[in-house]
Amino acid sequence: MTKKLHLLGFIQNGVNSHATGMWRHPQDKVNWSFTDPAYWEHMARTMERGLFDGMFIADELAPYTTHEDSSDATVRYAIQCPTHEPSTIVPIITRATEHLGVGVTLSTAFEHPYSMCRRLSSLDHLSDGRVAWNIVSSYSKSEWEAYGQEMTSRADRYERLEEYMELCYQLWDSWEPDAIVADAETGIYADPDKVKVVDHEGQYYKSRGRHFVAPSPQGRPVLWQAGSSPRGRDFAAKHAEAIFAVHPNVERMREYVDDLDSRLPKFGRDRDSVKYLFGVQTVVAATEEEAQAKYERIKACIPLEGAMAWMSGHFGLDFSTFDPDDEIQNIEVPGIQGLFESILYAKNGEPVTVAEAAIIYAQGMGMPVLVGTPSSIVDQLETYADEGGADGFMLIATYTPGCFEEFVDMVVPELQRRGRLRTEYTGSTLREHLLEQ
Ligand SMILES: Cc1cc2nc3c(=O)[nH]c(=O)nc-3n(C[C@H](O)[C@H](O)[C@H](O)COP(=O)(O)O)c2cc1C
Repeated sequence: MTKKLHLLGFIQNGVNSHATGMWRHPQDKVNWSFTDPAYWEHMARTMERGLFDGMFIADELAPYTTHEDSSDATVRYAIQCPTHEPSTIVPIITRATEHLGVGVTLSTAFEHPYSMCRRLSSLDHLSDGRVAWNIVSSYSKSEWEAYGQEMTSRADRYERLEEYMELCYQLWDSWEPDAIVADAETGIYADPDKVKVVDHEGQYYKSRGRHFVAPSPQGRPVLWQAGSSPRGRDFAAKHAEAIFAVHPNVERMREYVDDLDSRLPKFGRDRDSVKYLFGVQTVVAATEEEAQAKYERIKACIPLEGAMAWMSGHFGLDFSTFDPDDEIQNIEVPGIQGLFESILYAKNGEPVTVAEAAIIYAQGMGMPVLVGTPSSIVDQLETYADEGGADGFMLIATYTPGCFEEFVDMVVPELQRRGRLRTEYTGSTLREHLLEQ
């Protein structure tokens, strides 16, 4: 059976998303501003026109400070900066669409589970069941500095996260489905016997009270996660309904999928309860030459110092202290492990220098860059799906909204022609769409 693919548009609520320097590309946000609701409405409608499952709004909580122990380069080159709060745009996106889901990245590091659950349940109501939560716990020291707290170890962050989720599940499950009676005659709105008082006293969190939001259409948001260390993979295998990863080639994708598959049974999960989505960047045009010229134009926007600042931010190591010709294979990083691996293997295992790594990373986080015609791009996506085990892709933005318009106008019809993409939405909630085979 031809496997159908799931698509997400990967973006941030900021002037520049993940492809460094795109804000200065001549086709970026022409007559649009990311601060304008009309821009988000247009982005959402474009993705819905392409029958995407959803929009994936990435986030971090403060400008990176790792490069030269300062955020100067982050600010100077718009390295994911400025970035505005992501949940504020969710109702704009879902109000402009009928089917498109939206996954919002919210960190557990500085927010109590009680308010996190309340916010997500409220958004699930407003969107009629189209919200996902990308669970992160703040990997960057700049975030901890901005919140005036001592950064904790990865192991500790995952420990806390487990307890965080335990409390979230209790809150989301605390209203029985028939708790609301709404009997105007008797004046009884809800039956308190069917709304549990959660009483949690754990190692990291305490909470006593009832969830303040009535059961939302999906019951709880769809859970997304992108942890990539061994501990992160276990967390994802236990909790996530969509797992994201970045791998530069099909062999690495396959290894990742096999590894995750082997972890699912430990947590009583079967393969149908989760989707593996890989990051890709596409640069599409009617001819290969045209696509290549477009790609060169995109790469020309990347400032090396900005690229270094971004790589330093994500990997928690000041790469300005290394020689640009040093090989990254010899370097250990405390930051996002899985993304570092994407550049370690970017040249099929050949050594990659610090300067090369910065440029590869700055283009799109080490994701495979598919440059070509709709047909050659879909060939490659099919290989990732059939041989690599991908259930779908998160499409990293270059210039916006143009890159998504081009994908929807050119690549989506080719995917549909080959039976790889739905031709209409069939469910109503994001979970239904995502878990569709
Ligand atoms: C594709 C991808 C996207 C991610 N997006 C975010 C993000 O938007 N915000 C964030 O704080 N962390 C993000 N992360 C980081 C992870 O969610 C995770 O917290 C981090 O990788 C540390 O865990 P690990 O060491 O297990 O990988 C992303 C990671 C990957 C692989």
